[in-house]
Amino acid sequence: MPAAAAFDAFLRERRVPNRPGHPLASGTTFRIGGPARWLVEPATTGQAADTLRAARECDIPVKLLGGGSNLLVRDEGVDGAVLRLNRLNSVAWGTDGSATVEGGASLPRLVKEATQRGLSGLEGLTGVPGSVAGALVMNAGGRHGEIGPAVRWVDVLEPDGTPRRLSQAEAEFRYRTSGLRGRIVVGARLELATVEPAGLAAKYDEIMRDKKETQPLGRPNAGCIFKNPAGEKAGRLIDECGLKGARAGAAHVSSKHANFIINEGRATADDVLELIDRIKAAVFSRRGVSLELEILVW
Ligand code: EPU
Repeated sequence: MPAAAAFDAFLRERRVPNRPGHPLASGTTFRIGGPARWLVEPATTGQAADTLRAARECDIPVKLLGGGSNLLVRDEGVDGAVLRLNRLNSVAWGTDGSATVEGGASLPRLVKEATQRGLSGLEGLTGVPGSVAGALVMNAGGRHGEIGPAVRWVDVLEPDGTPRRLSQAEAEFRYRTSGLRGRIVVGARLELATVEPAGLAAKYDEIMRDKKETQPLGRPNAGCIFKNPAGEKAGRLIDECGLKGARAGAAHVSSKHANFIINEGRATADDVLELIDRIKAAVFSRRGVSLELEILVW
């Protein structure tokens, strides 16, 4: 049996929820991207592991789609299986200030609940969109803090489906990346500190206000496009090149924050990639700095 037919048979026989040919644009905050050959939404961690095993046997490449907030999917889509953990989204609060979460849980919801419970450690992620899995893989965060320091352990599936629990040290959290790349994050334990709730809520509100002032939160975008180079700020470098408002097709560089690209509604991945090339060339020619992408491009 050809590989694709064998994988189809596995999904059918095991009743793994999936959407063949589903457009990925709707699963990304950029609202850009072609279809996945299969968008697979396992109902249990066991199903996710079995899907990885079956995909490996059938030679089908697999990608993990988190909240789709740091991702540009090309217009031709993904010729393989895209795993989305949106059905694995539980959050269980311990009496000791810990939270045991599944990978598909919403990061904004988690941060909000922690704030309401007077638990500190995640407030630096206020206003960061996406799923817990995606946030862990890229060690999401910014000027106000990042997720890595709050992590006790992370449960992953290796590419062959084998489950493993990694300690915080083994997860190797670094600036906007981690050792979790290439693995499927299915859960984690976060450890937070009990603090005075009113002060924490005020901090949450302050960060939210700051983000609304400095970032184009209301328009489809993928967050910061480039990482900050050592000792520099990508947004400032791009701004200095006079690129705010620069346009390719239906995409433009935000006039609020130059490290954001806005999809005006009908932008294609090619529009965004053209802008990215122009930005990189301009910053390199003016300052000799090679900007590195923070977003993933599929
Ligand atoms: N700046 C400009 N022009 C611009 C944008 C910024 O001159 O168009 C200047 C600002 O005035 C400021 C400096 O650049 O002096 C840094 O800007 P900002 O304070 O907005 O922080 P950032 O380094 O650009 C980082 C994260 C953001 C995160 C914010 C706040 C990176 C690449 N970016 O931005 O993360 O939201 O801190 O915590 O690390 C993301 O990762 O997707 C993201 C948006």
